[in-house]
Amino acid sequence: MSTESPPGLERARQRAGIDAEAWAELRAAALRVLEGNRQQGISEWKTERYPEGVPYNFVCPANLSYPFQWFWDSCFHAIVLSHLAPTLAEEELRTLVRAAQPDGFIPHIVFWRRDPERMRHHTIHLRHPYFTSTIQPPVLAAAIERVYRATGNPDFLRETLPPAAAFFRWLGQARDPDGDHLIAIIQPDESGVDASPKYDALMQLDALNNRALVASINRLYDRYEREGLRGDDHRLIAADLFVVEDVLVNAIYADGLERMATLLRELERVGMAALMVGGQEVSCEREAHRCETEAQAVTDALLATCYDADTGLFYDLQTRDERPARINTISSLFPLILRTLPHAVADRMVREHLLNREEYWLPYPVPSVARSEPKFDPDDPHGFIWRGPTWINANWFLAAALRRTGWTEPADHIVRQSVALVRGAGFRECYNPLTGAGQQARDFGWSTLVVDMILGE
Ligand code: GLC
Repeated sequence: MSTESPPGLERARQRAGIDAEAWAELRAAALRVLEGNRQQGISEWKTERYPEGVPYNFVCPANLSYPFQWFWDSCFHAIVLSHLAPTLAEEELRTLVRAAQPDGFIPHIVFWRRDPERMRHHTIHLRHPYFTSTIQPPVLAAAIERVYRATGNPDFLRETLPPAAAFFRWLGQARDPDGDHLIAIIQPDESGVDASPKYDALMQLDALNNRALVASINRLYDRYEREGLRGDDHRLIAADLFVVEDVLVNAIYADGLERMATLLRELERVGMAALMVGGQEVSCEREAHRCETEAQAVTDALLATCYDADTGLFYDLQTRDERPARINTISSLFPLILRTLPHAVADRMVREHLLNREEYWLPYPVPSVARSEPKFDPDDPHGFIWRGPTWINANWFLAAALRRTGWTEPADHIVRQSVALVRGAGFRECYNPLTGAGQQARDFGWSTLVVDMILGE
């Protein structure tokens, strides 16, 4: 890999502001966290393919608070492992896609080893004893791409890409019943930015704390259950109890579709001409073309319906009436990751918002909510997360987007400050953007993404 060659690595280190010794320490510490959080064994969950129980080998986000397999966390772990232990990076994603269902669905959390006591700590809705009924942002295409780039192993691609393609197809079919190309989420945790203030009004919180949010999610689940909606996404969306066309989710969806197109063509090149998606056999080229077209359609829809020309920001659309949620959170910046976003739109977002000291350009950027928002809270009081703290996975997306679009200095600054966060406070779940203090879980898996940020995509 070119970034690992000594001259490339030295340049990367200089950009990130760390010397050889600090880099070696950081790399070793990241590996320790990922190894320390490893969960491995044979599940009691038996499937047709694995009648003796499904084998699993993955990294959980944090041993104490998050001991199960979370969808987007695993994708981030695989990306870091692609540098540190490529075979384990493959295992991480192989394990994840073993939970893929015949209809294409891949769950948000998989409980390879059920632990009812610890499962109770999470607001979950099960579709099956071993997995939830919800999803998370589809970072899977980016993760497969990075792992394949590291290993070049066609068997890995043959194993993981068909379920990924089926999942992307499922997202469009199950979650876009109005056909506007934007997929909907049906519960706040599905976006990965669970307690973001952008959902407060829709969740009808009676107090601004995590307890109120959990109660509200449970009320939502009770209604899904009582009204017999579980398992039927179109009816769930029609019921309109929580329907959000979320900008962050759709930006990751569009980015994923574009990567899928490239990967599907690669799959054809390594000898697999067709695959099963949505119960039908399609050629790789045809599915690649569909993904490519859909990626652009999602981008166009974000621009046409979520972009607000007055503020230069993107807003989620809430309820089936698609009411914009006008609050300035990190989601509003996520379209920066889209390759075909018009330059003028991207430049304005960077200049007026991301680099604005009243909003996102805080001592340790990028906060999850703009400082100018009345609900900005730099701390994470009792798990009421994503309301201000800085998260390394968001920085990973944004730094790469800035670098790709030529904003090299801001990209380097985000990388340097992310490195400063983990060196100062350890691999924590999130950080105070004003002081750099670590918050929530310790030895948190995806904060090791700094390793990938240093090396650059
Ligand atoms: C929190 C985060 C979510 C993450 C999960 C496991 O719920 O909000 O994005 O996937 O923890 O780390």
